[in-house]
Amino acid sequence: MDKEKSYILGLETSCDETSAAVLLNGKEIKSNIISSQIPIHRLYGGVVPEIASRKHLEVVNEVIDEALAEAQITLQDLSAIAVTAGPGLVGALLIGVSTAKALAYALKIPLIAVNHMAGHIYANFLETPDLPLPSLCLIVSGGHTDLVAFAGHNDLKILGSTRDDAAGEAFDKVARVLGLSYPGGPALEKLAQNGNPKAFPLPSASINENTEYSFSGLKTAVINLHHKAKQKGEEINLADLAASFQQVVVKSLLENVRVELAKGGYSSLMLAGGVAANKVLRQAMEELAQEYNLPFSVPAMILCTDNAAMIAAVGYAKYQQGKFAGLDLNAYPALRLGQDDF
Ligand code: KG4
Ligand code: ZN
Repeated sequence: MDKEKSYILGLETSCDETSAAVLLNGKEIKSNIISSQIPIHRLYGGVVPEIASRKHLEVVNEVIDEALAEAQITLQDLSAIAVTAGPGLVGALLIGVSTAKALAYALKIPLIAVNHMAGHIYANFLETPDLPLPSLCLIVSGGHTDLVAFAGHNDLKILGSTRDDAAGEAFDKVARVLGLSYPGGPALEKLAQNGNPKAFPLPSASINENTEYSFSGLKTAVINLHHKAKQKGEEINLADLAASFQQVVVKSLLENVRVELAKGGYSSLMLAGGVAANKVLRQAMEELAQEYNLPFSVPAMILCTDNAAMIAAVGYAKYQQGKFAGLDLNAYPALRLGQDDF
């Protein structure tokens, strides 16, 4: 094995995807295996934490073996192991953290702790390694909605977040009321394709004086509309309601981005996180970037939702800086961006 090469094994178990990936020299994805638990959690309408932990434990070794096999390397070829240490479900995180610690100890290679949200940002650098910085990054996932100024590794600032529900969470909860299956985001997007986005006036989710968001009022407005129609026995066009909701989410998300872009000082615009898989949002962000004449980056669909390649990408940056974690590493369910100093 060529010692000039670095192979980072990424490991991700923060929610309902068990994923292992091998990243060569920080940029070439040799494998990115994702074992999804979605069909199991769908039975319950959402992620059941206890089941998630148990499923991670059942498949984690198999997923790692598959990632190594597809990359055509063995454990002995690895340079370091990067694992999601937070945020996420504590029991789920612990499976990845414990597995990574055991492997790092046995193989005598560095252990690297990764913030899952940083992973979402770094998915962009797998696609666009030369994206000019500083970049304004909108991260929208199931658990978080953050507008971030990203100037480089360890150099980021959260400009605004959600005060209550995350954008993905709002998609999931509204979808559930509309009778769609978990995860709601993709199902709602599909339903909205045949709907009129102007059919229902809905409240904005942006609080743009301080670049914050609040999705709970919007979510409740949709749920109330639906319930009232049902009580009165009125027919409601679900595609119209889905399209109207999606349109307001996208418009609200963009409003704060626009406020921040207008301040100037950014060299690019990024979109990240599971909700970045939404085509209407991708297109709207791309158009906004064009309006401001900025390069735009959004990960490929498979790199938007949870995966280990994005964790390995952060791992590589930390590997180069020699930022290694100790074997006393814990799981940090409420970890925020920029807080992680391990
Ligand atoms: O980043 P992610 O995979 O997991 C977390 O870290 O939370 O994001 C999952 C979220 C879910 O709420 C899901 O409904 C949403 O991303 N999502 C979407 C789409 N695909 C996934 N939301 C809207 N449109 C989509 N196409
Ligand atoms: Zn995520």
